[in-house]
Parts: sequence; C-alpha cells; structure tokens
Amino acid sequence: MDILAIANQKGGVGKTTTAVNLASALAHKRKKVLLIDLDAQGNATTASGIDKRELEYSIADVLLDDVPLLDAIVKSDAGYDVVGANGELSGIDLSLSQIDNNYAILDTAMQSLNDLPNKNGKPQKAYDYVIIDCAPSLSLLTINAMYATSGVIIPMQCEYFALEGLADLSNTIERLKELNPNLHIRGVLRTMFDPRNTLANDVSRELVQHFGDIMFHTIIPRNVRLAEAPAHGMSVIDYEQNSTGAYAYTKLANELIKQKR
Ligand SMILES: Nc1ncnc2c1ncn2[C@@H]1O[C@H](COP(=O)(O)OP(=O)(O)O)[C@@H](O)[C@H]1O
Ligand SMILES: [Mg+2]
Repeated sequence: MDILAIANQKGGVGKTTTAVNLASALAHKRKKVLLIDLDAQGNATTASGIDKRELEYSIADVLLDDVPLLDAIVKSDAGYDVVGANGELSGIDLSLSQIDNNYAILDTAMQSLNDLPNKNGKPQKAYDYVIIDCAPSLSLLTINAMYATSGVIIPMQCEYFALEGLADLSNTIERLKELNPNLHIRGVLRTMFDPRNTLANDVSRELVQHFGDIMFHTIIPRNVRLAEAPAHGMSVIDYEQNSTGAYAYTKLANELIKQKR
C-alpha cells in the first residue's frame, strides 16, 4: 500500500485540491484509493461529495474513541473511499497530547487496512493508495500523518514566500525519520502555476535548483475548473474532463504510478 501525506503548513497552497483530484485520477486508473481527511475544515470530505455533518463516524472518532478505521470508511460517488472529517477534529491535539505514543495513533488504526480477508479468506491489502489530506499546521495530527506514511507530497505555489516555512517542514520530516525511517519527501508539486507570470517562472526555477530531482515534473496550472469543482462535490476529472486541471492531475497520477518509491 502506498500511503501519501499531502502536507504543507501553509494554507491555501493546494493541498486539498491535490488530495481530492489525485485520489480521483488514481481511481480513474483503476487503483483502489482511500482518502483520509485530516483537517477539521473537512474540505476534502465535502469536495468528495460527502456531507461532513452527516458522517456516522469521522476520523476524530477513530483517533479519540477507538472506532475502527474500517467502520469510518464511506464510499464516495467519485470512485474512491473516504474517511471524513468535520469540526469534531478541531482541538483534538490537546486530547491527543495526553495519550502515550500519540504520534502513532493513525498508523495503528491503519494497520487494519493491511489484512482484510479477500473472497478466499486470505489477508490482502485493502487499497493501492491511501492519501491523507493534512491541515495547514505541523500539529500532532500532521505528525500522525507523517508517521503513518512513507512519502510526503508538498504542494507549493510559485510565489515570493513559497520557500518560507519549508525549512520548518524539512526539519520536522528529518526529526520524524528517527521514528519512521521510511519517511521521505516523495515530491514537491508546483500548484496554481501561471506560465505568463515572470515571478512564478523565477520561483519555479529556484525550486528546481533547490530540490532538483524531488520536484515532480508535472506542474498544476491555475485553472478555474479546479476551483469550481468542489462546490459540486466533484473532482475536476468528473466535473470537466477536458480541462487543463483534469489533464494535470491525471499526468501527476501517471508520474506517481511510474515513480520508484
Ligand atoms: N490549480 C488551481 N487553480 C485554481 N484554483 C485552485 C488551484 N488549486 C487550488 N485552487 C483553489 O485555491 C484555494 C486553496 O486551495 P486548497 O486546495 O483548499 O488549499 P489548502 O488545502 O492547501 O489550504 C481553493 O479555493 C481552491 O479551489
Ligand atoms: Mg486544505
């Protein structure tokens, strides 16, 4: 199972957009995908066409009340499964901080995904990909995501302050490697890219110099369809298949599938 955390403590860089559309693009490639929403705003849940107020169990119930992860999984019309989030997740850090090994709660909950009995009763992995949409912080929740994952995808807008905060994120990842030696940055993803913008091109070039081969080749352009789709509870691929946004996330899915881990 390839478990990917979409993280950047900056808000509005395209984490949720990437989580939802990558999940959808991989599902369109016949991959079995689970999307875990780890942000109290529940945007990934809503964007997947699920009413976050109607969840029987949310990720908060899994993390705090020992509800089995499998019981919290909802099937979405988008072709992938979702563990949703809502306001119940806000303030959870304080409650988690009292628990032993509080960085490993999500990872422990996810172990059940590895040994689901198949038709013949043999254990098998439930999903090809698990995508975790993180909140814009380096909170205990994000730490849980990074402990559970091997690869972190870092969406980044090519703007003046793009690199700000990246040192903190890299330091957090380095520190967590002591706990999770497999942890690494799977790729830095340029989002909301406008090729006519000189500054965006300069920053993009700087990112490539800085990160070299951990940059994804795929660049996500600014595309209004990507911003519209969530209001319809759809991924951009289902909302407007022939949009630059849909092409870009499909290309990203291909790049990820081909990537060595
Ligand atoms: N490539 C894009 N083109 C146009 N709008 C985008 C694009 N990516 C994200 N957006 C919009 O930008 C805003 C922030 O994106 P979002 O994915 O919610 O960021 P984050 O989860 O990092 O806070 C949202 O309104 C989203 O619809
Ligand atoms: Mg978000």
